[in-house]
Amino acid sequence: MTVEDVSVAGSSPEGGVISVWTLNRPGKLNALNADSHRAIKEASVRANADDSVRCVVIRGAPPLEPEEGKRPKPPAFAAGADISEFAGKDSDDVRPFFENNAWEAIWNISKPTIAMVDGFALGGGTELALSCDIRIASDRSTFGQPEINLGLIPGGGGTQRLCRLIGYGRTMEIVLSGGMVKAEDALQMGIVNRMVSPEDLESETMKLAEDISRKSPYTTKVAKRVIRGALELPFSEGILMERSEFVALFDTEDKEIGVRAFLERSDADWVGR
Ligand code: COA
Repeated sequence: MTVEDVSVAGSSPEGGVISVWTLNRPGKLNALNADSHRAIKEASVRANADDSVRCVVIRGAPPLEPEEGKRPKPPAFAAGADISEFAGKDSDDVRPFFENNAWEAIWNISKPTIAMVDGFALGGGTELALSCDIRIASDRSTFGQPEINLGLIPGGGGTQRLCRLIGYGRTMEIVLSGGMVKAEDALQMGIVNRMVSPEDLESETMKLAEDISRKSPYTTKVAKRVIRGALELPFSEGILMERSEFVALFDTEDKEIGVRAFLERSDADWVGR
């Protein structure tokens, strides 16, 4: 995986970057092997710790030119866990790997994360996208949880995150059929936030990432934490959590900066506290 920092013009405090991660095994449709997991976990630690990182965008490397006489590989975000690493393994072999995995590392990043999906996002690839906060997909993308065809179920949070995102019945159909979900159906179900042409995918995704990266980095983290609460807390507790976090923001400098900027019709120059 490669990690590139893209600076955000007009971010405050100054120096904000979007951390762009590119899954880089195009010959294997960016299937997630042990190295991919290690790299994602390392990048997640850094994204959490480094104040300059305002947003994370995850993408798949585009296909390489085909070798002479060979057919071109299709575009992919990630075609799942690397199935070659499953052969001959028993539960003791895979348990440590799945207990400390890349999907949870992404899910636990305190800053906004966006999956930029072009092509196949299957199995662990759909789960990787689901571990992000927002998904933008090209119209030639395909999602799915085909693990059932291997005698398995999703193991990277797919059953739980998909159920919370699109509901029980649709999750059952996707997991039990193991079928492919085209981008337009994924959009209609709410698996993806937006569907755009492959040509517009990068610009649309980076524009959203930049917009998000220009907000107060402090408030952005609070917003993510509180919205996440809606997935985990009973409704009345979630309402209480939101109220308490909202009230606490009145003690921050960024609330005063934001309100004054609105009243003075100027840009907010956040300090991040
Ligand atoms: N793990 C390991 N390798 C994978 C892979 C995966 N999940 N998905 C694709 N690959 C590899 C293929 O083995 C092939 O390698 P090779 O060229 O060295 O033989 C290469 O990526 C290209 O895939 P290929 O199957 O030839 O492309 P295709 O266009 O015919 O089919 C898919 C594309 C996505 C339909 C097909 O690759 C597929 O079904 N992949 C597995 C999806 C899956 O079950 N994921 C869940 C895993 S838990």
